[in-house]
Amino acid sequence: MQDNQVQIFDTTLRDGEQVPGCKLDTKQKLVIAERLDVLGVNVIEAGFPVSSPGDFISVTEIAKIVKNATVCGLTRAVENDIKVAADALKYANFPRIHTGIGTSDSHIKFKFNSTRDKVIERAVNAVKYAKSFVQDVEFYAEDAGRTDNDFLAKVCEEVIKAGATVLNIPDTTGYCLPEEYGAKMKYLKENVKGIDKAILSCHCHNDLGMATANSIAGVINGARQIECTINGIGERAGNTALEEVVMILKQHPYLNLETSINTKLLYDTSIMVRESMGMPVQPNKAIVGANAFAHSSGIHQDGVIKNRETYEIMDPEEVGVTESAIVLTARSGRAALAYRAKKIGYELTKIQLDEAYKEFLNTADKQKEVKDNDIHIIMKEVNKTSKI
Ligand code: KIV
Ligand code: ZN
Repeated sequence: MQDNQVQIFDTTLRDGEQVPGCKLDTKQKLVIAERLDVLGVNVIEAGFPVSSPGDFISVTEIAKIVKNATVCGLTRAVENDIKVAADALKYANFPRIHTGIGTSDSHIKFKFNSTRDKVIERAVNAVKYAKSFVQDVEFYAEDAGRTDNDFLAKVCEEVIKAGATVLNIPDTTGYCLPEEYGAKMKYLKENVKGIDKAILSCHCHNDLGMATANSIAGVINGARQIECTINGIGERAGNTALEEVVMILKQHPYLNLETSINTKLLYDTSIMVRESMGMPVQPNKAIVGANAFAHSSGIHQDGVIKNRETYEIMDPEEVGVTESAIVLTARSGRAALAYRAKKIGYELTKIQLDEAYKEFLNTADKQKEVKDNDIHIIMKEVNKTSKI
């Protein structure tokens, strides 16, 4: 792997599917897994095989059909979980077991009633056991965001010695600030012996709206894998949104960090996931929301019609959106009205436009948006002969 390649680890089918109401059956999961493979993700986390017979079957079937991506199954640091995951992954071209344990003092005390030393012992045993089935073993230090850096470094060092190939540093509770999360990655990169043998991975939750910013801070500071979901779905406020991190890296080439994602498939993939999971995306969602490339104020519309770069930092076609939308509202100006009218067949002279604009404002004040059909009505009033 080149040093500037950031691996995209998609967990839509595992962390994403944990959302209440988002449950998918195996058939639906297979369709999404196939699509993720075509999209170009490097790793598909297909599920948590020990969690239910249905999840076991889904992971097994996904492992059979995915051609290019690594297929991964989640486990706790528990032998039976690992054995079941290995079984579910046995048909995968590139299998990975993702095992781990909570490392923050709060997890050690309240979840396990244990000690730091015992947690390290369980972590090491889990990695060694997983290694007896597959070569590629990812270790997660759950709640790493709130784990003190010295102890986290010690855990990382021990699991690397046990054979871990990827170290997942989850901000499980979405608490870290980007500076803090970035500094954590830098600390691990500089202080963990043997770190060159493993890839550091970002896994950020969005409880304070910082999942994307934290993941980017992570890769700027040395991580080379981002764990994310389509549309950012996931536990509570969700996970890092795949489409966001991918486009951030693409739109900031000076960072010299690349992914293998075919960005032109992002929008369609987003639609597929929202429809099959019944989980709508808010209109103002970055990259894939209905308004992500829609302009509604007169000043912005005028600028975009002259040159889209005035208010757009990326070409909508790059993410699979056919064109920017000029949405007509009471805030729109003459330029936007003329632009939309032309699109539906009316080439307006200056006088016609002035008249049409008066009618347009009357209509726009009465409704949220002026649609093409309203323009036809306006034009009938203004000049029945101007239709080309
Ligand atoms: O958020 C988290 O810590 C997780 C781990 C189980 C990887 O999802
Ligand atoms: Zn998570």
